[in-house]
Amino acid sequence: MGKGLRKGLTSYGDAGFSLFLRKAFIKAMGYSDDALGRPIVGITNTYSDYNPCHGNVPALIEAAKRGVMLSGAMPMVFPTISIHESFAHPTSMFLRNLMAMDTEEMIRAQPMDAVIVIGGCDKTLPAQIMAAASVDLPTVVIPVGPMVVGHHKGEVLGACTDCRRLWSAHRAGEIDDEEIETVNGRLAPSVGTCMVMGTASTMACVAEAMGLALPMSATIPAPHAERIRLAEASGRRAAEMAVSGAPRPSALMTPAAFRNAQVVLQAIGGSTNGLVHLTAMANRVGARIDLQAFDQVGREVPVLVDLKPSGDHYMEHFHHAGGMPRLLRELGDLVDLDAPTVGGGTLRDVVAGAEAVPGQTVIRTPSDPIKPTGAMAVLTGNLAPRGALIKHAAASPRLLQHTGRAVVFDSIPDMAARIDDPDLEVEADDVLVLRNAGPKGAPGMPEAGYLPIPKKLGRQGVKDMVRLSDARMSGTAFGTIVLHVTPESAVGGPLALVRTGDRIRLDVPARVIEVLVDDAELARRARALPPASRPDWAARGYARLFHDSVTQADEGCDFDFMMPERR
Ligand code: FES
Ligand code: MG
Repeated sequence: MGKGLRKGLTSYGDAGFSLFLRKAFIKAMGYSDDALGRPIVGITNTYSDYNPCHGNVPALIEAAKRGVMLSGAMPMVFPTISIHESFAHPTSMFLRNLMAMDTEEMIRAQPMDAVIVIGGCDKTLPAQIMAAASVDLPTVVIPVGPMVVGHHKGEVLGACTDCRRLWSAHRAGEIDDEEIETVNGRLAPSVGTCMVMGTASTMACVAEAMGLALPMSATIPAPHAERIRLAEASGRRAAEMAVSGAPRPSALMTPAAFRNAQVVLQAIGGSTNGLVHLTAMANRVGARIDLQAFDQVGREVPVLVDLKPSGDHYMEHFHHAGGMPRLLRELGDLVDLDAPTVGGGTLRDVVAGAEAVPGQTVIRTPSDPIKPTGAMAVLTGNLAPRGALIKHAAASPRLLQHTGRAVVFDSIPDMAARIDDPDLEVEADDVLVLRNAGPKGAPGMPEAGYLPIPKKLGRQGVKDMVRLSDARMSGTAFGTIVLHVTPESAVGGPLALVRTGDRIRLDVPARVIEVLVDDAELARRARALPPASRPDWAARGYARLFHDSVTQADEGCDFDFMMPERR
Protein backbone atom coordinates (compact mmCIF):
# COMPACT_ATOMS: atom_id res chain seq x y z
CA MET A 1 0.00 0.00 0.00
CA GLY A 2 1.41 3.38 -1.03
CA LYS A 3 2.11 6.23 1.28
CA GLY A 4 -0.86 8.19 -0.09
CA LEU A 5 -3.55 6.18 1.61
CA ARG A 6 -1.59 5.91 4.85
CA LYS A 7 -1.45 9.67 5.20
CA GLY A 8 -3.21 11.04 8.24
CA LEU A 9 -4.05 7.53 9.40
CA THR A 10 -5.96 7.54 12.66
CA SER A 11 -4.81 4.30 14.17
CA TYR A 12 -6.48 4.27 17.58
CA GLY A 13 -3.76 1.84 18.56
CA ASP A 14 -4.00 -0.53 15.56
CA ALA A 15 -2.58 1.11 12.44
CA GLY A 16 -2.79 -2.14 10.49
CA PHE A 17 -6.51 -2.48 11.09
CA SER A 18 -7.15 1.19 10.29
CA LEU A 19 -5.47 0.81 6.91
CA PHE A 20 -7.34 -2.47 6.31
CA LEU A 21 -10.64 -0.69 7.01
CA ARG A 22 -9.77 2.33 4.91
CA LYS A 23 -8.85 0.10 1.97
CA ALA A 24 -11.97 -2.00 2.37
CA PHE A 25 -14.17 1.06 2.01
CA ILE A 26 -12.32 2.83 -0.79
CA LYS A 27 -12.18 -0.41 -2.79
CA ALA A 28 -15.95 -0.19 -3.05
CA MET A 29 -15.24 2.45 -5.71
CA GLY A 30 -13.39 -0.15 -7.78
CA TYR A 31 -9.86 1.12 -7.27
CA SER A 32 -7.00 -1.37 -7.71
CA ASP A 33 -4.12 -1.80 -5.29
CA ASP A 34 -1.90 -0.21 -7.96
CA ALA A 35 -4.10 2.94 -8.04
CA LEU A 36 -4.25 3.16 -4.27
CA GLY A 37 -0.49 2.70 -4.02
CA ARG A 38 0.25 5.90 -5.95
CA PRO A 39 0.89 9.39 -4.58
CA ILE A 40 -2.49 11.06 -4.17
CA VAL A 41 -3.46 14.47 -5.57
CA GLY A 42 -6.69 15.83 -4.09
CA ILE A 43 -8.77 18.06 -6.36
CA THR A 44 -11.49 20.34 -4.98
CA ASN A 45 -14.83 20.33 -6.75
CA THR A 46 -16.64 23.66 -6.48
CA TYR A 47 -19.13 22.94 -9.25
CA SER A 48 -22.64 24.05 -8.30
CA ASP A 49 -25.84 24.67 -10.23
CA TYR A 50 -25.90 27.99 -8.37
CA ASN A 51 -22.47 29.00 -9.64
CA PRO A 52 -22.38 29.76 -13.38
CA CYS A 53 -18.90 31.24 -12.98
CA HIS A 54 -17.73 27.70 -12.21
CA GLY A 55 -19.65 26.09 -15.09
CA ASN A 56 -16.45 24.73 -16.64
CA VAL A 57 -15.22 23.10 -13.43
CA PRO A 58 -16.17 19.54 -14.51
CA ALA A 59 -14.05 19.91 -17.68
CA LEU A 60 -11.15 21.37 -15.69
CA ILE A 61 -11.33 18.53 -13.17
CA GLU A 62 -11.32 15.97 -15.98
CA ALA A 63 -8.23 17.57 -17.52
CA ALA A 64 -6.44 17.94 -14.18
CA LYS A 65 -7.12 14.24 -13.43
CA ARG A 66 -5.70 13.33 -16.84
CA GLY A 67 -2.55 15.30 -16.07
CA VAL A 68 -2.18 13.65 -12.66
CA MET A 69 -2.61 10.16 -14.10
CA LEU A 70 -0.30 10.76 -17.08
CA SER A 71 2.33 11.49 -14.47
CA GLY A 72 1.69 8.29 -12.56
CA ALA A 73 -0.19 9.67 -9.56
CA MET A 74 -3.74 9.17 -8.39
CA PRO A 75 -6.33 12.02 -8.49
CA MET A 76 -9.08 12.10 -5.86
CA VAL A 77 -11.84 14.67 -6.36
CA PHE A 78 -13.75 15.96 -3.33
CA PRO A 79 -16.46 18.60 -2.90
CA THR A 80 -16.27 21.84 -0.97
CA ILE A 81 -18.58 24.81 -0.66
CA SER A 82 -19.03 26.89 -3.79
CA ILE A 83 -19.85 30.60 -3.59
CA HIS A 84 -21.32 32.73 -6.37
CA GLU A 85 -21.53 36.48 -5.85
CA SER A 86 -25.21 36.70 -6.68
CA PHE A 87 -26.38 33.63 -4.77
CA ALA A 88 -24.74 34.05 -1.39
CA HIS A 89 -27.15 35.51 1.13
CA PRO A 90 -26.45 37.65 3.11
CA THR A 91 -23.13 38.28 1.37
CA SER A 92 -20.38 36.26 -0.24
CA MET A 93 -17.89 37.84 2.16
CA PHE A 94 -19.89 36.41 5.06
CA LEU A 95 -19.32 32.96 3.54
CA ARG A 96 -15.67 33.36 2.48
CA ASN A 97 -14.29 32.34 5.86
CA LEU A 98 -16.66 29.36 5.98
CA MET A 99 -15.33 28.21 2.60
CA ALA A 100 -11.77 28.72 3.83
CA MET A 101 -12.51 26.56 6.89
CA ASP A 102 -14.31 23.90 4.87
CA THR A 103 -11.50 23.70 2.31
CA GLU A 104 -8.80 23.64 5.00
CA GLU A 105 -10.47 20.95 7.06
CA MET A 106 -11.30 18.69 4.10
CA ILE A 107 -7.70 18.88 2.88
CA ARG A 108 -6.56 17.99 6.39
CA ALA A 109 -9.19 15.29 6.92
CA GLN A 110 -8.53 13.20 3.83
CA PRO A 111 -5.30 11.51 2.78
CA MET A 112 -3.53 13.43 -0.01
CA ASP A 113 0.06 14.37 -0.84
CA ALA A 114 -0.73 17.47 -2.89
CA VAL A 115 -3.89 19.38 -3.74
CA ILE A 116 -5.32 21.26 -6.70
CA VAL A 117 -7.82 23.98 -5.85
CA ILE A 118 -10.06 25.11 -8.70
CA GLY A 119 -11.93 28.36 -8.09
CA GLY A 120 -12.61 31.77 -9.48
CA CYS A 121 -15.81 33.56 -8.52
CA ASP A 122 -14.75 36.45 -6.30
CA LYS A 123 -14.39 34.96 -2.81
CA THR A 124 -13.46 31.45 -3.85
CA LEU A 125 -9.79 31.84 -4.78
CA PRO A 126 -9.05 33.89 -1.63
CA ALA A 127 -10.83 31.27 0.51
CA GLN A 128 -8.91 28.44 -1.14
CA ILE A 129 -5.56 30.21 -0.87
CA MET A 130 -6.22 31.06 2.81
CA ALA A 131 -6.94 27.36 3.36
CA ALA A 132 -3.87 26.23 1.43
CA ALA A 133 -1.69 28.63 3.40
CA SER A 134 -2.94 27.22 6.70
CA VAL A 135 -2.58 23.55 5.69
CA ASP A 136 0.72 24.14 3.89
CA LEU A 137 0.44 21.06 1.67
CA PRO A 138 1.88 21.47 -1.88
CA THR A 139 -0.90 23.25 -3.78
CA VAL A 140 -1.59 24.23 -7.38
CA VAL A 141 -4.27 26.87 -7.98
CA ILE A 142 -6.33 26.65 -11.19
CA PRO A 143 -8.55 29.68 -11.78
CA VAL A 144 -11.68 28.86 -13.80
CA GLY A 145 -10.92 31.79 -16.12
CA PRO A 146 -12.89 34.79 -17.34
CA MET A 147 -16.01 34.79 -19.53
CA VAL A 148 -15.73 35.90 -23.13
CA VAL A 149 -17.28 39.28 -23.92
CA GLY A 150 -20.86 39.95 -25.00
CA HIS A 151 -22.11 42.20 -27.80
CA HIS A 152 -25.11 44.50 -28.12
CA LYS A 153 -25.86 46.88 -30.98
CA GLY A 154 -22.23 46.84 -32.07
CA GLU A 155 -21.02 47.55 -28.56
CA VAL A 156 -18.86 45.17 -26.49
CA LEU A 157 -20.39 44.26 -23.11
CA GLY A 158 -18.79 42.94 -19.93
CA ALA A 159 -20.19 41.62 -16.65
CA CYS A 160 -20.69 43.48 -14.65
CA THR A 161 -19.28 46.95 -15.23
CA ASP A 162 -21.71 47.31 -18.13
CA CYS A 163 -24.52 45.79 -16.02
CA ARG A 164 -24.26 48.84 -13.77
CA ARG A 165 -23.76 51.38 -16.53
CA LEU A 166 -26.72 50.14 -18.60
CA TRP A 167 -28.96 49.75 -15.53
CA SER A 168 -28.14 53.35 -14.58
CA ALA A 169 -29.11 54.38 -18.13
CA HIS A 170 -32.35 52.42 -17.69
CA ARG A 171 -33.02 54.17 -14.34
CA ALA A 172 -32.40 57.50 -16.05
CA GLY A 173 -34.97 56.60 -18.72
CA GLU A 174 -32.46 56.27 -21.58
CA ILE A 175 -33.04 52.52 -22.15
CA ASP A 176 -36.57 51.10 -22.22
CA ASP A 177 -37.90 47.92 -20.57
CA GLU A 178 -37.65 45.77 -23.69
CA GLU A 179 -34.07 46.69 -24.51
CA ILE A 180 -32.84 46.22 -20.94
CA GLU A 181 -34.26 42.66 -21.06
CA THR A 182 -32.35 42.00 -24.30
CA VAL A 183 -29.17 43.35 -22.70
CA ASN A 184 -29.80 41.09 -19.71
CA GLY A 185 -29.29 38.03 -21.94
CA ARG A 186 -26.06 39.35 -23.43
CA LEU A 187 -24.03 40.52 -20.44
CA ALA A 188 -22.76 37.08 -19.38
CA PRO A 189 -22.47 35.09 -22.61
CA SER A 190 -20.41 32.14 -21.30
CA VAL A 191 -19.34 30.29 -18.19
CA GLY A 192 -16.39 31.80 -16.32
CA THR A 193 -15.83 34.78 -14.10
CA CYS A 194 -16.64 38.44 -14.76
CA MET A 195 -14.39 39.51 -17.65
CA VAL A 196 -13.60 42.99 -16.43
CA MET A 197 -10.94 43.68 -13.78
CA GLY A 198 -13.33 42.79 -10.97
CA THR A 199 -12.41 40.83 -7.89
CA ALA A 200 -12.32 37.46 -9.65
CA SER A 201 -9.90 38.66 -12.35
CA THR A 202 -7.92 40.56 -9.74
CA MET A 203 -7.44 37.53 -7.52
CA ALA A 204 -6.57 35.28 -10.46
CA CYS A 205 -3.89 37.81 -11.49
CA VAL A 206 -2.66 37.98 -7.89
CA ALA A 207 -2.49 34.17 -7.66
CA GLU A 208 -0.47 34.02 -10.88
CA ALA A 209 1.82 36.88 -9.79
CA MET A 210 2.46 35.16 -6.45
CA GLY A 211 3.52 32.03 -8.32
CA LEU A 212 0.63 29.96 -6.93
CA ALA A 213 -0.74 29.15 -10.41
CA LEU A 214 0.94 28.35 -13.71
CA PRO A 215 1.72 31.13 -16.23
CA MET A 216 -1.28 32.51 -18.22
CA SER A 217 -3.72 30.86 -15.83
CA ALA A 218 -5.32 34.18 -14.85
CA THR A 219 -6.33 35.26 -18.33
CA ILE A 220 -7.13 32.30 -20.63
CA PRO A 221 -10.89 32.61 -21.27
CA ALA A 222 -12.96 30.01 -19.42
CA PRO A 223 -14.40 28.34 -22.55
CA HIS A 224 -11.07 28.08 -24.42
CA ALA A 225 -9.33 24.78 -25.17
CA GLU A 226 -6.11 26.33 -23.90
CA ARG A 227 -7.59 26.43 -20.40
CA ILE A 228 -8.28 22.70 -20.52
CA ARG A 229 -4.63 22.13 -21.46
CA LEU A 230 -3.59 24.42 -18.59
CA ALA A 231 -5.59 22.22 -16.21
CA GLU A 232 -3.87 19.12 -17.59
CA ALA A 233 -0.46 20.77 -17.12
CA SER A 234 -1.45 21.77 -13.58
CA GLY A 235 -2.35 18.13 -12.89
CA ARG A 236 1.04 16.97 -14.13
CA ARG A 237 2.76 19.54 -11.95
CA ALA A 238 0.71 18.59 -8.88
CA ALA A 239 1.69 14.94 -9.37
CA GLU A 240 5.37 15.91 -9.32
CA MET A 241 4.77 17.96 -6.18
CA ALA A 242 2.97 15.03 -4.54
CA VAL A 243 6.21 13.05 -4.91
CA SER A 244 8.72 15.78 -4.07
CA GLY A 245 6.66 17.46 -1.34
CA ALA A 246 7.57 20.89 -2.67
CA PRO A 247 7.02 23.71 -3.07
CA ARG A 248 4.67 24.28 -0.17
CA PRO A 249 2.54 27.46 -0.05
CA SER A 250 4.79 28.79 2.72
CA ALA A 251 7.73 28.70 0.28
CA LEU A 252 5.77 30.80 -2.23
CA MET A 253 3.80 33.16 0.04
CA THR A 254 6.88 35.16 1.02
CA PRO A 255 7.21 38.88 1.79
CA ALA A 256 8.56 39.33 -1.76
CA ALA A 257 5.50 37.60 -3.22
CA PHE A 258 3.13 39.77 -1.17
CA ARG A 259 5.01 42.88 -2.31
CA ASN A 260 4.72 41.68 -5.92
CA ALA A 261 1.01 41.10 -5.39
CA GLN A 262 0.56 44.68 -4.19
CA VAL A 263 2.45 46.01 -7.20
CA VAL A 264 0.24 43.95 -9.50
CA LEU A 265 -2.92 45.01 -7.65
CA GLN A 266 -2.06 48.64 -8.42
CA ALA A 267 -0.79 48.03 -11.97
CA ILE A 268 -3.85 46.10 -13.14
CA GLY A 269 -6.28 48.65 -11.71
CA GLY A 270 -7.40 45.84 -9.44
CA SER A 271 -10.48 45.47 -7.28
CA THR A 272 -10.55 47.15 -3.87
CA ASN A 273 -11.67 43.77 -2.49
CA GLY A 274 -8.30 42.43 -3.56
CA LEU A 275 -6.61 44.32 -0.73
CA VAL A 276 -8.89 42.77 1.91
CA HIS A 277 -8.29 39.28 0.52
CA LEU A 278 -4.54 39.79 0.19
CA THR A 279 -4.45 40.95 3.81
CA ALA A 280 -6.31 37.81 4.90
CA MET A 281 -3.99 35.58 2.87
CA ALA A 282 -0.93 37.27 4.38
CA ASN A 283 -2.25 36.92 7.91
CA ARG A 284 -2.57 33.16 7.39
CA VAL A 285 1.22 32.89 7.00
CA GLY A 286 1.98 35.42 9.73
CA ALA A 287 2.80 38.21 7.25
CA ARG A 288 1.23 41.68 7.28
CA ILE A 289 -0.05 44.00 4.60
CA ASP A 290 0.70 47.49 5.86
CA LEU A 291 -1.82 49.98 4.48
CA GLN A 292 0.64 52.86 4.36
CA ALA A 293 3.15 50.67 2.51
CA PHE A 294 0.40 49.69 0.07
CA ASP A 295 -0.37 53.37 -0.49
CA GLN A 296 3.32 53.99 -1.13
CA VAL A 297 3.36 51.18 -3.73
CA GLY A 298 0.46 52.98 -5.37
CA ARG A 299 2.48 56.20 -5.62
CA GLU A 300 5.32 54.37 -7.41
CA VAL A 301 3.50 51.90 -9.65
CA PRO A 302 1.60 53.04 -12.75
CA VAL A 303 -1.63 51.46 -14.00
CA LEU A 304 -0.48 49.57 -17.09
CA VAL A 305 -3.43 47.34 -17.97
CA ASP A 306 -6.21 48.98 -19.98
CA LEU A 307 -9.22 47.06 -18.65
CA LYS A 308 -12.63 48.11 -17.45
CA PRO A 309 -13.64 49.57 -15.09
CA SER A 310 -10.51 51.80 -15.10
CA GLY A 311 -9.85 51.42 -18.84
CA ASP A 312 -11.44 50.12 -22.02
CA HIS A 313 -10.81 46.41 -22.60
CA TYR A 314 -11.70 42.99 -21.17
CA MET A 315 -9.81 39.96 -19.86
CA GLU A 316 -9.66 38.14 -23.20
CA HIS A 317 -7.91 41.17 -24.70
CA PHE A 318 -5.43 41.17 -21.79
CA HIS A 319 -4.83 37.50 -22.53
CA HIS A 320 -4.25 37.97 -26.24
CA ALA A 321 -1.86 40.84 -25.45
CA GLY A 322 0.40 38.47 -23.49
CA GLY A 323 -1.29 38.21 -20.08
CA MET A 324 0.48 38.35 -16.76
CA PRO A 325 3.94 37.29 -18.02
CA ARG A 326 3.96 40.30 -20.36
CA LEU A 327 2.73 42.62 -17.60
CA LEU A 328 5.42 41.37 -15.21
CA ARG A 329 8.01 42.00 -17.90
CA GLU A 330 6.78 45.59 -18.34
CA LEU A 331 6.86 46.12 -14.58
CA GLY A 332 10.54 45.16 -14.64
CA ASP A 333 12.36 46.33 -11.52
CA LEU A 334 9.10 47.12 -9.74
CA VAL A 335 8.64 43.37 -9.09
CA ASP A 336 11.04 40.92 -7.47
CA LEU A 337 11.68 38.42 -10.25
CA ASP A 338 13.59 36.07 -7.93
CA ALA A 339 10.33 35.03 -6.28
CA PRO A 340 9.80 31.26 -6.73
CA THR A 341 6.73 29.82 -8.47
CA VAL A 342 4.74 26.63 -8.29
CA GLY A 343 6.19 25.71 -11.70
CA GLY A 344 9.53 25.11 -10.03
CA GLY A 345 11.46 28.15 -11.27
CA THR A 346 11.14 31.84 -10.54
CA LEU A 347 9.15 34.74 -11.96
CA ARG A 348 12.25 35.48 -14.04
CA ASP A 349 11.56 32.26 -16.00
CA VAL A 350 7.93 33.29 -16.42
CA VAL A 351 8.95 36.70 -17.74
CA ALA A 352 11.49 35.11 -20.10
CA GLY A 353 8.61 33.19 -21.68
CA ALA A 354 6.46 36.31 -22.15
CA GLU A 355 5.06 36.74 -25.62
CA ALA A 356 5.64 39.99 -27.51
CA VAL A 357 2.46 40.95 -29.35
CA PRO A 358 3.10 43.65 -31.95
CA GLY A 359 0.61 46.49 -31.97
CA GLN A 360 -1.27 45.50 -28.80
CA THR A 361 -2.39 48.43 -26.65
CA VAL A 362 -3.87 46.61 -23.64
CA ILE A 363 -0.62 46.15 -21.69
CA ARG A 364 1.15 49.49 -21.64
CA THR A 365 4.73 50.38 -20.77
CA PRO A 366 5.74 52.50 -17.76
CA SER A 367 6.62 55.30 -20.20
CA ASP A 368 3.09 55.21 -21.66
CA PRO A 369 0.83 54.18 -18.75
CA ILE A 370 -2.96 54.34 -18.42
CA LYS A 371 -2.38 56.29 -15.21
CA PRO A 372 1.03 57.42 -13.93
CA THR A 373 0.25 56.20 -10.40
CA GLY A 374 -1.56 53.12 -9.10
CA ALA A 375 -5.26 52.37 -8.96
CA MET A 376 -5.89 52.72 -5.24
CA ALA A 377 -5.06 55.08 -2.41
CA VAL A 378 -5.35 54.67 1.35
CA LEU A 379 -7.05 57.57 3.15
CA THR A 380 -6.98 58.39 6.84
CA GLY A 381 -8.42 61.13 9.00
CA ASN A 382 -10.85 61.57 11.86
CA LEU A 383 -13.46 59.55 9.94
CA ALA A 384 -11.16 56.56 9.34
CA PRO A 385 -8.43 56.29 11.97
CA ARG A 386 -7.43 52.81 10.70
CA GLY A 387 -7.84 53.68 7.07
CA ALA A 388 -10.23 53.78 4.15
CA LEU A 389 -9.68 52.94 0.51
CA ILE A 390 -10.50 54.67 -2.76
CA LYS A 391 -9.99 53.32 -6.26
CA HIS A 392 -9.14 56.71 -7.70
CA ALA A 393 -8.35 55.18 -11.10
CA ALA A 394 -12.10 54.57 -11.46
CA ALA A 395 -13.19 57.91 -9.90
CA SER A 396 -14.13 61.28 -11.43
CA PRO A 397 -11.00 63.49 -11.39
CA ARG A 398 -13.05 66.61 -10.51
CA LEU A 399 -14.26 64.98 -7.27
CA LEU A 400 -10.89 63.82 -5.95
CA GLN A 401 -10.68 67.00 -3.86
CA HIS A 402 -14.16 67.78 -2.67
CA THR A 403 -15.90 69.12 0.41
CA GLY A 404 -19.64 68.61 0.66
CA ARG A 405 -22.63 68.28 2.94
CA ALA A 406 -23.23 64.79 4.36
CA VAL A 407 -26.49 63.03 3.55
CA VAL A 408 -26.49 60.10 5.96
CA PHE A 409 -28.19 56.72 5.58
CA ASP A 410 -28.15 54.73 8.80
CA SER A 411 -28.28 51.29 7.19
CA ILE A 412 -28.78 49.57 3.86
CA PRO A 413 -32.56 49.26 4.41
CA ASP A 414 -32.68 52.98 5.30
CA MET A 415 -30.84 53.80 2.09
CA ALA A 416 -33.11 51.55 0.02
CA ALA A 417 -36.18 53.21 1.53
CA ARG A 418 -35.11 56.82 0.98
CA ILE A 419 -32.55 57.15 -1.83
CA ASP A 420 -35.14 57.51 -4.60
CA ASP A 421 -37.64 59.48 -2.52
CA PRO A 422 -38.48 62.63 -4.52
CA ASP A 423 -38.55 64.54 -1.21
CA LEU A 424 -35.01 63.52 -0.21
CA GLU A 425 -33.00 66.69 0.31
CA VAL A 426 -29.92 66.04 -1.77
CA GLU A 427 -27.81 68.02 -4.24
CA ALA A 428 -25.18 66.87 -6.72
CA ASP A 429 -22.26 68.12 -4.60
CA ASP A 430 -23.44 66.48 -1.38
CA VAL A 431 -21.58 63.46 0.03
CA LEU A 432 -23.69 60.31 0.37
CA VAL A 433 -22.82 58.45 3.58
CA LEU A 434 -23.83 54.86 4.35
CA ARG A 435 -23.07 53.18 7.67
CA ASN A 436 -23.73 49.89 9.47
CA ALA A 437 -22.56 48.13 6.32
CA GLY A 438 -19.18 46.87 7.56
CA PRO A 439 -17.91 43.38 8.46
CA LYS A 440 -20.08 43.05 11.60
CA GLY A 441 -22.68 45.65 10.79
CA ALA A 442 -24.51 44.29 7.78
CA PRO A 443 -23.14 41.51 8.24
CA GLY A 444 -20.32 40.49 5.95
CA MET A 445 -19.44 43.90 4.55
CA PRO A 446 -21.72 43.79 1.53
CA GLU A 447 -20.86 45.46 -1.76
CA ALA A 448 -23.19 48.33 -0.92
CA GLY A 449 -20.50 51.01 -1.15
CA TYR A 450 -21.59 51.80 -4.68
CA LEU A 451 -24.57 53.83 -3.48
CA PRO A 452 -26.90 54.54 -6.39
CA ILE A 453 -27.17 58.14 -7.53
CA PRO A 454 -30.56 59.35 -6.20
CA LYS A 455 -33.03 58.95 -9.05
CA LYS A 456 -33.96 62.61 -9.18
CA LEU A 457 -30.29 63.58 -9.59
CA GLY A 458 -29.72 60.76 -12.12
CA ARG A 459 -32.50 62.17 -14.25
CA GLN A 460 -30.76 65.54 -14.14
CA GLY A 461 -27.69 63.88 -15.64
CA VAL A 462 -25.61 63.46 -12.45
CA LYS A 463 -23.37 60.44 -13.06
CA ASP A 464 -21.07 60.51 -10.03
CA MET A 465 -21.01 61.85 -6.47
CA VAL A 466 -18.66 61.34 -3.54
CA ARG A 467 -19.93 58.32 -1.64
CA LEU A 468 -18.59 57.05 1.66
CA SER A 469 -19.20 53.90 3.68
CA ASP A 470 -17.80 51.04 5.75
CA ALA A 471 -18.99 48.66 3.02
CA ARG A 472 -17.08 47.15 0.12
CA MET A 473 -17.72 47.75 -3.56
CA SER A 474 -17.80 45.39 -6.48
CA GLY A 475 -14.51 45.43 -8.33
CA THR A 476 -16.50 46.04 -11.46
CA ALA A 477 -17.97 49.37 -10.26
CA PHE A 478 -16.99 52.93 -11.20
CA GLY A 479 -17.23 56.19 -9.24
CA THR A 480 -15.74 58.44 -6.54
CA ILE A 481 -16.35 55.99 -3.76
CA VAL A 482 -14.60 55.81 -0.40
CA LEU A 483 -14.80 52.31 1.05
CA HIS A 484 -13.78 50.11 3.98
CA VAL A 485 -13.94 52.97 6.49
CA THR A 486 -12.22 51.40 9.51
CA PRO A 487 -13.19 50.88 12.25
CA GLU A 488 -16.74 50.33 11.03
CA SER A 489 -19.69 52.15 12.57
CA ALA A 490 -21.15 48.97 14.14
CA VAL A 491 -18.16 48.77 16.49
CA GLY A 492 -18.37 52.46 17.32
CA GLY A 493 -16.12 53.84 14.55
CA PRO A 494 -16.39 57.57 13.89
CA LEU A 495 -18.66 56.95 10.89
CA ALA A 496 -21.35 56.28 13.52
CA LEU A 497 -21.05 59.92 14.64
CA VAL A 498 -21.72 61.72 11.34
CA ARG A 499 -25.01 63.56 10.96
CA THR A 500 -26.79 64.85 7.88
CA GLY A 501 -25.62 68.41 7.34
CA ASP A 502 -22.04 67.88 8.63
CA ARG A 503 -19.33 68.87 6.14
CA ILE A 504 -17.11 66.07 4.87
CA ARG A 505 -13.76 66.66 3.19
CA LEU A 506 -12.18 64.25 0.73
CA ASP A 507 -8.68 65.06 -0.47
CA VAL A 508 -7.18 62.13 -2.35
CA PRO A 509 -3.86 63.83 -3.21
CA ALA A 510 -3.41 64.53 0.53
CA ARG A 511 -4.88 61.09 1.40
CA VAL A 512 -7.43 62.60 3.80
CA ILE A 513 -11.04 61.76 4.62
CA GLU A 514 -12.50 63.77 7.48
CA VAL A 515 -15.64 65.21 8.95
CA LEU A 516 -15.32 68.91 9.71
CA VAL A 517 -16.71 68.66 13.23
CA ASP A 518 -14.56 69.48 16.25
CA ASP A 519 -13.25 66.78 18.57
CA ALA A 520 -15.30 67.88 21.58
CA GLU A 521 -18.55 67.58 19.64
CA LEU A 522 -17.51 64.17 18.26
CA ALA A 523 -16.67 63.00 21.78
CA ARG A 524 -20.07 64.22 22.98
CA ARG A 525 -21.80 62.28 20.18
CA ALA A 526 -19.70 59.17 20.95
CA ARG A 527 -20.86 59.20 24.57
CA ALA A 528 -24.47 59.19 23.37
CA LEU A 529 -24.06 56.04 21.26
CA PRO A 530 -25.91 52.97 22.55
CA PRO A 531 -23.62 50.23 23.93
CA ALA A 532 -22.74 47.48 21.44
CA SER A 533 -24.63 44.21 21.83
CA ARG A 534 -24.95 41.03 19.80
CA PRO A 535 -27.69 41.55 17.20
CA ASP A 536 -30.51 39.05 16.60
CA TRP A 537 -29.08 37.76 13.33
CA ALA A 538 -26.01 36.59 15.23
CA ALA A 539 -27.88 34.60 17.89
CA ARG A 540 -26.68 31.17 16.77
CA GLY A 541 -24.60 29.04 14.43
CA TYR A 542 -22.11 30.30 11.92
CA ALA A 543 -23.59 33.81 12.11
CA ARG A 544 -22.63 33.95 15.80
CA LEU A 545 -19.12 32.71 15.09
CA PHE A 546 -18.82 35.29 12.32
CA HIS A 547 -20.10 38.18 14.41
CA ASP A 548 -17.96 37.38 17.41
CA SER A 549 -14.74 36.64 15.53
CA VAL A 550 -14.57 38.63 12.29
CA THR A 551 -11.83 41.24 12.14
CA GLN A 552 -11.97 44.66 10.50
CA ALA A 553 -11.03 45.36 6.87
CA ASP A 554 -7.46 46.34 7.75
CA GLU A 555 -7.00 42.80 9.12
CA GLY A 556 -8.58 41.09 6.14
CA CYS A 557 -11.97 40.27 7.74
CA ASP A 558 -10.63 36.82 8.63
CA PHE A 559 -11.56 35.28 11.96
CA ASP A 560 -9.26 36.48 14.71
CA PHE A 561 -8.45 32.91 15.81
CA MET A 562 -7.30 31.88 12.31
CA MET A 563 -4.27 34.15 12.31
CA PRO A 564 -1.12 32.62 13.79
CA GLU A 565 -0.15 35.71 15.76
CA ARG A 566 -3.63 36.19 17.22
CA ARG A 567 -4.18 32.66 18.51
FE1 FES B 1 -18.64 35.30 -10.38
FE2 FES B 1 -18.44 37.98 -11.12
S1 FES B 1 -20.17 36.87 -10.43
S2 FES B 1 -16.92 36.47 -10.91
MG1 MG C 1 -17.57 41.05 -7.80
